[in-house]
Amino acid sequence: MSIEPVIEVRDLWFRYADGTEALRGINFHLLPGETVALLGANGSGKTTFILHLNGLLQGKGSVTVCGIPVNAGTAQQVRRKIGLVFQDSESQLFMPTVLEDVAFGLMNLGISSAEALHRAAHALELAGIAEAANKAPYHLSAGEKRRASIAGILVMDPEILILDEPTTSLDPPGQRSLAELLAGLPQAKIIVTHDVEFARELADRAVFFHRGAISGEGSIDDLVIRFGWRALRLACLQCSMTRSARPACHGSRESSLRFSSFLFRIRPAPSAAWSGLPMNCLLA
Ligand SMILES: Nc1ncnc2c1ncn2[C@@H]1O[C@H](COP(=O)(O)OP(=O)(O)O)[C@@H](O)[C@H]1O
Ligand SMILES: [Mg+2]
Repeated sequence: MSIEPVIEVRDLWFRYADGTEALRGINFHLLPGETVALLGANGSGKTTFILHLNGLLQGKGSVTVCGIPVNAGTAQQVRRKIGLVFQDSESQLFMPTVLEDVAFGLMNLGISSAEALHRAAHALELAGIAEAANKAPYHLSAGEKRRASIAGILVMDPEILILDEPTTSLDPPGQRSLAELLAGLPQAKIIVTHDVEFARELADRAVFFHRGAISGEGSIDDLVIRFGWRALRLACLQCSMTRSARPACHGSRESSLRFSSFLFRIRPAPSAAWSGLPMNCLLA
C-alpha cells in the first residue's frame, strides 16, 4: 500500500508580474512525518515555491495539501494545515506581549480570549520560551523571536511546518537549540536553509533548486557533493586565511568549484586541508 503524500506538487510554473519566471515545472512531494530540506542559491525560487504551498501565490500546475487542491477557494482551509514561518519572523510579531501575539491567530478564528491565551501559553512551552510570555516581542533576542514565531504557528496545530531560512541571524547555540526544538516536533516539515549542518541534522532528504527548477534530489551529502554546496563556503573561509590564495580562489567560478571538490574529497581528514597552505597552488 502506498503512502499518500501530505503535499504533492505537479508541474508548477510561476511568473511574477515583471516577467521573472521564478518557477519552471516543479514536481515535489512531502510524505507524512518527513522532513525535506530545500537547498539552492539565492534567487533560485525556494521562497516563491513555498508561498505556493499555502496559496499565497498561485501559478500554473497543481498543488495538493492533505488531499485538498490549493486554489483561491481553498486557501483558508489549506492555511489551517500548514504553518509557515517566514524568514523575517520578527515581522510576524506585533502584539504588546509575546503571549497575546501567539494567541492572536486563534482569536482571529473567533476562539474566546481565555481559551486562546491558555492554548498560547501551552504553545510557548512547546517552543521552549514560556518565560518570555509577558515580554514585549521587540525585547526578545533573535533566537527568542524565532521561537515565539514558531509558537505562533504551533498554536494553530498545523499538520505541516514550513520554515524559510530559520537559522538566519541566530548564533551557533541558537541554531543548535532550534534544531533540537524542530527535531522534537512530530509534523512533516519543509526547511529552506543554506546551513548544511542544520539540514543534515533534521532532514531525511533534500532537493536542490536551480533557476526555478529542481535540479537534484537525494540525501544532503549527495547534493552537497553534486553541487559543491558546502565546499564553496569552505573555500571562501580558506581564502580569508591566506591572502596569497585569495586572487586564485576568487578568480573564476570554475576554479572555485574545482577547489571546492578538492576540499570535499579530503573532508574525512579536514586538518589536511587546513594545513596545506598555500591552497592556491591546487588551483593551477
Ligand atoms: N515580488 C517579486 N517580483 C518580481 N520578481 C521576484 C519577486 N520576488 C522574487 N522575485 C524573483 O524571483 C526569483 C526567485 O526568488 P525567490 O523565490 O525569492 O528565491 P530564493 O528564495 O531561492 O532566494 C528571483 O529571481 C527573484 O528576484
Ligand atoms: Mg528566499
